[in-house]
Amino acid sequence: MELPYAESFKIKMVEHIHRSTKEERLQWIKEAKYNLFNLRSEQVFVDLLTDSGTGAMSDRQWSEMMLGDESYAGASSYFKLKNAIKNILGFDYFLPTHQGRAAENVLFSVLVKEGDIVPGNSHFDTTKGHIEFRKARAIDCTIDEAFDTTLKHPFKGNVDIDKLEKVLKEHNDKVPFIIVTITNNTAGGQPVSLQNLREVRAVADKYGKIVVYDSARFAENAYFIKTREEAFAQLSIKEITKEMFANADVMTMSSKKDAIVNMGGFIGMRSEKLFQEASVFNIMFEGFITYGGMSGRDMNALAQGLDEGTEFVVLQNRIEQVAYLGRKLVEYGVPVQEPFGGHAIFVDAKRFLPHLPKEEYVAQTLAIELYIEGGVRGVEIGTLLADRDPETRKDRFPKLELLRLAVPRRTYTNNHMEYVAVALGNVYARRKSITSGMKILKEAPIMRHFTVELDRI
Ligand code: F0G
Repeated sequence: MELPYAESFKIKMVEHIHRSTKEERLQWIKEAKYNLFNLRSEQVFVDLLTDSGTGAMSDRQWSEMMLGDESYAGASSYFKLKNAIKNILGFDYFLPTHQGRAAENVLFSVLVKEGDIVPGNSHFDTTKGHIEFRKARAIDCTIDEAFDTTLKHPFKGNVDIDKLEKVLKEHNDKVPFIIVTITNNTAGGQPVSLQNLREVRAVADKYGKIVVYDSARFAENAYFIKTREEAFAQLSIKEITKEMFANADVMTMSSKKDAIVNMGGFIGMRSEKLFQEASVFNIMFEGFITYGGMSGRDMNALAQGLDEGTEFVVLQNRIEQVAYLGRKLVEYGVPVQEPFGGHAIFVDAKRFLPHLPKEEYVAQTLAIELYIEGGVRGVEIGTLLADRDPETRKDRFPKLELLRLAVPRRTYTNNHMEYVAVALGNVYARRKSITSGMKILKEAPIMRHFTVELDRI
């Protein structure tokens, strides 16, 4: 018999998790004002809220923690990270930040001003938030195929080159840069092909624009290029990574994802001038340029994580586990974005609960039902997250209304994935009994999903 696929790691340390009852969960979710961000972690059995900062570090990363240099300026940990960024990603200049959105804040303080337009492929919510906070506008140029969850396109994260050129033709002088998010989180953890990255580069060169990569899950993107884009199948993940970033001028990184650390981020740059301009804001918002919000030990673990996170088997273990969850859900009839994403399975809430009106926060309703069913916490990527239009203050209804089940790296077993699939399968079996959704009681003026208070209709 052919030997089955199995993970290339074993577990050295475990953490107890509490399995609650349905009655407890009904009470807790009510107390949390039907906002899953308000739950205490002990009230959650399998936590798929995010894959950000929730991964398990390796023994080698933990060893690196012990070697951290906590000097304020010029720490050896800074140089260790600088070398890893140069060798693995190819950037000469970098600034450490405490996480990804801090990198956006520092970079956009230099590059974005009022009235600007930033085209890209489904900007992540903090990216969009930092653009809109500066009274600029984000325009989504993702290919249309991304918005049909039944269509099996291998690179649903791609930028639509015609849409991008249209924005540049109409607003050329207002565009400070083009941003490409790899992988495209909002569209379902979907990859961008290397060919598409090269096409974006060519358009940027034609119009004299900078290209920025939002790189939180760049290694997962490289894995999909290797396994789906035939021309690059023979290259290693590290070689593909270099090829991808060769088409960018700047990168922002949330290290909490593909670099498998619990906290951290950075900006990678080629231009010394940009580095100097950004340094001013880094010092003001984050810390001196050789630590920027990170401890020395965290910079060490991050340098090690960048190396491990760009190894084929590490990515294969991770992406295969997400696919395992996806296949189980499909078996139970649950409608999901296909192909499966790199970091998460995205459940299509409109297809799951087609009888609920879009004004009733359909994906949030589904997230609450899944929590009540099995103590599983996912996250809404739908109307709550899309927020209100800054001008009209009306709800923006996104093309996709999704419940994201993000899988932390090396944290849960496939047994947990089976459990999650059965819980959601049970909700699917009783979907017709869910006859109404949610209404908002209280919300913040921006990024409301974190703190919103809701009630049943
Ligand atoms: N860009 C992308 C594509 C992201 O997914 C995130 C975070 C960020 C930027 C911001 O990074 O959290 O370190 O400040 N995504 C998390 C998630 C929160 O759950 O998808 P951060």
